[in-house]
Amino acid sequence: MNLKVKVSDRIYWLGTNDRRKALFENLWPLPDGVSYNSYLIADDKTALLDTIEMGTGGDYVGWIEHLLGEHGRTDLDYLIINHMEPDHSGEIGDIVRRWPNVQIIGNGKTFKILEGYYGITENLVEVKEGDTLALGHHTLQFVMTPWVHWPETMMTYDTTEQILFSADAFGTFGTLDGAIFDDEIDCFDEKYLSEMRRYYSNIVGKYSNMVQKAFCKLGTVPLKAICPLHGPIWRTNPAKVVELYDRWSRYEAEDGVVIIYGSMYGNNAATADYIARKCAEAGIRKIKVHDASKTHLSYLINDIWRYRGVILGSCAYNTNMFPTMEHLTTELLHMGVKEKHLALFGSYSWNGGGVRNLKCFAETIGWPLVAEPVDVFGTPTPDKLTACDAIATGMAAALAQHE
Ligand code: FEO
Repeated sequence: MNLKVKVSDRIYWLGTNDRRKALFENLWPLPDGVSYNSYLIADDKTALLDTIEMGTGGDYVGWIEHLLGEHGRTDLDYLIINHMEPDHSGEIGDIVRRWPNVQIIGNGKTFKILEGYYGITENLVEVKEGDTLALGHHTLQFVMTPWVHWPETMMTYDTTEQILFSADAFGTFGTLDGAIFDDEIDCFDEKYLSEMRRYYSNIVGKYSNMVQKAFCKLGTVPLKAICPLHGPIWRTNPAKVVELYDRWSRYEAEDGVVIIYGSMYGNNAATADYIARKCAEAGIRKIKVHDASKTHLSYLINDIWRYRGVILGSCAYNTNMFPTMEHLTTELLHMGVKEKHLALFGSYSWNGGGVRNLKCFAETIGWPLVAEPVDVFGTPTPDKLTACDAIATGMAAALAQHE
């Protein structure tokens, strides 16, 4: 934590990179790490916007002292808490111990969690929708954006420089390897875009309707830059990342299909490959096949968010779905994913259970089936597999409706 990175004349990025953590929220893989961003405004009044995960920033407090000192200041006047999840609130205790008179700005829900986590109940300044805070040159306005991603989440808009401090929204997985700003990195190549969508779908996607409500509130507010709590600062392409979030939160997807299967001895895997081939013959150009036992749930959800077509297959396992498919379908129900075309297949050796339970999932989640489910008894021989042809043609026809 010794990088002096200016967002503008009096605004500093105070972020850190976490390359040690294997799983975000102890759940989602971080092959390329993650950044935690906080920001300091050194105006007539000084304000810190959010903190970082505890222990990831070296001498975080010392660096804030240093930057304040460069502006002839020692006091931190305000700590603005846009989001209380510990990856951003982890250093609040250190901040309050160093600056015991700091005024802590949040909303009612913020303070309830603040007390629960850190026992802090003093120097609290509650703000509501549209309230403002004058720092001198900068005037900040607060926008309540509950459930993007926790109930207390809010955003802070710098009306002077038209910069939005957006909390988790517009964030991404991956560390900031030298490049802090979007124009210093190729943010829209497929790999980067995929990690951004994986972050959205895994972390924020469940609350897509609340993302849409936040967009309604922000409306036509001019945005010169967006400063999220993870990933790059969007100073050149803020409109582009807003457009991506808008599409993802409306479940707008690509014309393609992801086929995900659970298979114990390879029979269901063979059926998946057969269906994939038939999808290609039916004219579908984007097809991805995953073995749910091999590919982490995080990436399965990412591809389900990416493609409009979803084909799920499960062998029977103790008269139920295969456990990895059960895990996936439970998570999809929990997330309330919408706007998909669905097909189902499976295999069994005695009295089934895979397809039977996939059908229950289909009814609950409400995705329309493009064809009758196919449950293959025993080895998927060519004569049995022809029943799957209708899955491919049905999916191609469903996707064609969107062209
Ligand atoms: Fe990055 Fe919801 O915390």
